[in-house]
Amino acid sequence: MTRTPEQILAAMTPAEKLAQLQIVWRRDDAEAADLARRGIGALFWPQSAARTNALQRAAVTESRHGIPLLIGLDVVHGQFTIFPTPLAQAASFDPAVAVADARVSATEARSSGVNWTFSPMVDVSRDPRWGRVVEGFGEDPHLGAVFGAAKVRGYQGEDLRASDAVAACLKHFVGYGAAEGGRDYNTADMSLQRLREVYLEPFRAGVAAGAASVMASFNTLNGVPMHANRRLLTDVLKREYGFEGTVVADAEGVAQLVPHGVAADEFDAIARSIGAGLDTVMGGALLSDPDTAAALLDAIDPARLDDAVLRMLRLKQRLGLFDRPYVDESAERTAPTPETLAATRAAAERCPVLLKNDGPLLPLPSRGARVLLTGPFAESTDHLGAWVQHFAAGAGSLADALRERLPHLDWVVDPSIDPVRPSADGVARAARLATDCDLVVVAAGEPSALSGEAASRSDIRLPGDQEALIRAVAATGVPVVVLLATGRPLVVEAWADEVGALLVTWHLGTQGPEAIARLLAGDVSPAGRLPMTFPRSVGQIPVHHDALPTGRPARTGGSLTAERVDVGLNGPDNLDDTFTSKYLDLPLGPRFGFGEGLSYTTFEIEDAHLSTHTVSTESLARGARIRVTATVRNTGDRDGDDVLLVFLGSPVARISRPVQRLAAFTRVAVAAGGVARVELDIDAAQLGFFDDDVRFVFEPGRVELVLTDGGSALPLSLEITG
Ligand code: NOJ
Repeated sequence: MTRTPEQILAAMTPAEKLAQLQIVWRRDDAEAADLARRGIGALFWPQSAARTNALQRAAVTESRHGIPLLIGLDVVHGQFTIFPTPLAQAASFDPAVAVADARVSATEARSSGVNWTFSPMVDVSRDPRWGRVVEGFGEDPHLGAVFGAAKVRGYQGEDLRASDAVAACLKHFVGYGAAEGGRDYNTADMSLQRLREVYLEPFRAGVAAGAASVMASFNTLNGVPMHANRRLLTDVLKREYGFEGTVVADAEGVAQLVPHGVAADEFDAIARSIGAGLDTVMGGALLSDPDTAAALLDAIDPARLDDAVLRMLRLKQRLGLFDRPYVDESAERTAPTPETLAATRAAAERCPVLLKNDGPLLPLPSRGARVLLTGPFAESTDHLGAWVQHFAAGAGSLADALRERLPHLDWVVDPSIDPVRPSADGVARAARLATDCDLVVVAAGEPSALSGEAASRSDIRLPGDQEALIRAVAATGVPVVVLLATGRPLVVEAWADEVGALLVTWHLGTQGPEAIARLLAGDVSPAGRLPMTFPRSVGQIPVHHDALPTGRPARTGGSLTAERVDVGLNGPDNLDDTFTSKYLDLPLGPRFGFGEGLSYTTFEIEDAHLSTHTVSTESLARGARIRVTATVRNTGDRDGDDVLLVFLGSPVARISRPVQRLAAFTRVAVAAGGVARVELDIDAAQLGFFDDDVRFVFEPGRVELVLTDGGSALPLSLEITG
């Protein structure tokens, strides 16, 4: 008969309980098996089903209580079959893309013995200097909440015991994406309203979706390091959100309470974190060591210790590990299958964002043109993006994929330059080659290694001589298409006006080149939208779509003219607009805004309606939903997908509210000349806010809604009554 977590707990000594509360890495199998015998709670994946089974056997048959192990691995956008990066997935505005990734990831992972993934990352960020924006779903809390919840459901499936399900982990709790200056691991400091509405929102949604675990973040928040933040770990996450899973530390994050300056030594740090509500330590001093246990146990409240152990045991029970600790080695997956490759290619086709298409230059003709393919990504196989491991299935090259998909074009392929090193000769050669061609495709971008953890950049223009390359080929007068492979929004000011077409391709994974080739050939129309703003310059950051208004909104950009300098503030230009909120040296607004993205076809939105024009605060408190319905017409001659967004604004509220905030979105396929009906639901919670006392309130007043697909924008009005 299976023992219950409570029965197991009752039989454990305090030292054995402590040993359960840790996950560590061990490359050496013998050492890992020894830890399993000593009752450690979790280990990182030893890289095969057979080795995982050996560790589970040591834990189940040789440890005193026979408790199976959690086996953890960061399967962030694929283990063997790599999907587009999470930021790219968010650009699809289609949560089914995140689900497809999570289903394949969970199947591959569980078959090889992994039962716990450290994903999804749901850190909202408004700072593209921060390299980890590539791992999350962009700048918007609602988009992040929807994608985060979808990914949790995808990983965990209906039943965590299934052979294709893994426990998900929402990370990094919380505020990590608000690192000052976009510098990784840096301090975050913010108002409690912003914390609630922006940074906590995806965690709230992910917990509601059933996430089995949450990881604490490396940063301090308002002065308190998150690994020791009782208010957030215990009061908000566990008590208020009702989170019953396990809160895991980030790597060595507990020991780092010492350099943070809130713990005297590592033991003090461990006791403080567990006291604050952390349940599982990652790395650091071994808790199964008798000396460690002796030093720690007096400092840990026994009830808190029991609670942390129960959370660990219950997760193992939810995963069915007590009944089935081993995986079927004969069913282990170690490489993609034709089905998983088709799934990642379909996902990859949905993520690129077309920001410019004069001419239109895209799709490419199928024959009769000589095309120069240049730039550092022309022949590179660096398409997987950040957070993949050495066992991931690699990608091919764009040159091969384009030659295969468009064999009747006369391709001239010359990468010309290195992505990050100076390459003046290569720039000159590319310009010479361009003059002999009808069209130039520049495959530009950031190598995968320039985004991700510990990959912040202070200058987010294209690295190396890539700007010079684009400008040199554009100066020949031959039309230029730029493909931008990137893990973050980039500053593209120096060259965006000089090229005819710009397609942001992100890092699309194992089938990236094939997906790009199909988009360039016109097999599918691009339909992605920016999940994060592209700033005009680093000095404009933070710039995002849901900023608060100011008392002095600007109507025009600044003017850094000699005349202005001579006459000072009494200059003649835009006198009315002088004392307004702007930069003297930048036009207003970002270069490309949140939600922007074009298609090969055109759409019109018609017949937009709200399910009601008034709603009371009382019915909102009971959870009333407002539905926006409309018809989308494809007015062009190609099939395509349109993305519709509903933004809300509150012109008068008791505290200043964002000029616009995203409340709902949907992506819909519409055949050429056809129509589709769309329904977008706005949850009651979108219509309330946190007031000055950080209480969630619904307030009477007018709400202005806009239904837009970037092309058309239809205003709608809703009255909240008292
Ligand atoms: C550190 C990263 O911050 C976190 O995201 C990851 O899950 C852990 N390392 C484990 O690899």
